Amino acid sequence: MMFTDKIYQYNFPTLIRFGAGSSKELGAYLIKNGLFRPLIVTDPIVSQLGFFKEILKDLRGRDISVHVFHEIHKNPVKSDVYQGTEAFDALNRDSVIGIGGGAALDVARAIVLRTHHREDLFVYDDLKGGEVLITNEVPHFITIPTTAGTGSEVGRSAVISDDETHQKKILFSPKLMAKIVFADPLLTMELPPSITAATGMDALTHHMEAFLVNMFHPICDGIALQGITLIRESLEKAVNRPDLESRSKMLIASLMGAVAFQKGLGVVHSLAHPLSSLLDTHHGLANAVNIPYGMEFNIKGSEHKFKQIARVLNLENESGEDVVRYLFDLNEKIHIPRKLSAIGVRAEHIETLSDLALADFAHPNNPKPVSRDHFKQLYLKAL
Ligand SMILES: NC(=O)c1ccc[n+]([C@@H]2O[C@H](COP(=O)([O-])OP(=O)(O)OC[C@H]3O[C@@H](n4cnc5c(N)ncnc54)[C@H](O)[C@@H]3O)[C@@H](O)[C@H]2O)c1
Ligand SMILES: [Fe+2]
Repeated sequence: MMFTDKIYQYNFPTLIRFGAGSSKELGAYLIKNGLFRPLIVTDPIVSQLGFFKEILKDLRGRDISVHVFHEIHKNPVKSDVYQGTEAFDALNRDSVIGIGGGAALDVARAIVLRTHHREDLFVYDDLKGGEVLITNEVPHFITIPTTAGTGSEVGRSAVISDDETHQKKILFSPKLMAKIVFADPLLTMELPPSITAATGMDALTHHMEAFLVNMFHPICDGIALQGITLIRESLEKAVNRPDLESRSKMLIASLMGAVAFQKGLGVVHSLAHPLSSLLDTHHGLANAVNIPYGMEFNIKGSEHKFKQIARVLNLENESGEDVVRYLFDLNEKIHIPRKLSAIGVRAEHIETLSDLALADFAHPNNPKPVSRDHFKQLYLKAL
C-alpha cells in the first residue's frame, strides 16, 4: 500500500485512570473540578449492583448531590435520551457520569450532546453530516466502564435507535469524548460468564477488523496487535476462572479496541448490526458468532496481515485458516454457539438481514468489498 503521498490524522486524547480501585478517585476528581451536581447515567441492572451503591454512598458522603437516571433500553432508543436530558435540566445538573456497559455509556454521551443541542436528536446523525451541527458547549463528561467490550468509554460516538423503526443512528463528535475515564477492573469481577464472553469477543472483533482496514496507521495497528495478545492471554480465563489479572487485561484490551477502530471496522460488524436491530441480539454476541465466518471471507488478499495476527495468537501455522480455526475453538471454550440458528436467526430472516447489512456503515472499510450476495452467503453459511 502506498502511504507516502498523504497527510494523516491520529488522535489519542483521553485521560485514562486504569487499575483496581481507580473508580474510588471519582469523588475527589469531582470536587477538584467544582462539580457537585452530576447526573449519573446507568442501566437498571447496574443500578442495583453493590459497587454502584458504594459509589453513590461515597459521593453523597462528600456532599455531592447525585441523581441517577437508569431508565434505558437494552438497545438504547431516542426517548431514553430525551428522558435523561429532562432529568438533567429539571434537577439542574452540572455534569454527566456514565457508569455501565456500552448501552449506558452511549445514552450518557447522547445526553451530553442533547443538553445544549435541541434540534431533533437525529438531526445530528453522523451519516447525514450531523457532526458539523455539534458546535455548542457540552457538560463535563466522565465515563466508568463496567463491561469489557465496546470500549465506548474512550469513544466519540453513541449508537441510538429510533423508537419506532429500531434503525440505529450514530451521533459523532470529538466534543462527545469523556474528559476522564476511570477504568476499574474491580467493577467487572462479577460480570456473568455469558456477558464476559460476548463483550470480550466484541473487543477482539474491534482489534481484528481495525487491523485489517487498509489505512496507514501503525499506531492503531500496534495497539490492535497488542489488544489481540491481551485477549488471547485472558478471555478464556475471564470467562471460566476470572481473577483480577484476567479482568484487568480484558478491560484495557477492550478500551484499546475502541482506540484501534478509529481506523474503521468491517464485514463482521455489518453482519452483526442487523441482528441487534431486527432480533434485539446483544451486540457482542452477534459479533462473536459471526467473526469466524467474516474472517474466513477476509483471508484472500490480506494473507500477510493474517500472518501477523496468527503470530500474536501464537499459532503453529501462520495462516488465515488457522486464525479462523482459533476463533471457532475460542468460541467453543467460552460457550458461544457456532451457528446463528442457536441465537434465534431463522432462514426467513436472511433476506432482510442481507439488506440491512448492505446498508450498514461498517463494511465500506473492509479490506475486501462486500456485496449483498456476499452477506447472504455468509449468513447462510453461519445459519
Ligand atoms: N459507542 C460505541 O462506539 C459502541 C460500539 C459498539 C457497541 N455500542 C453499543 O454498546 C451496547 C453494548 O454494550 P455492552 O456490550 O457493554 O453491553 P450492555 O451495556 O448492554 O451490558 C450488557 C449487560 O451486562 C450488564 N452489566 C453491565 N456491567 C455489569 C457488571 N459489572 N456486572 C454485572 N452485569 C453488568 C448490563 O446491565 C447488561 O444487562 C450496544 O447498545 C451497542 O449498540 C457502542
Ligand atoms: Fe463492536
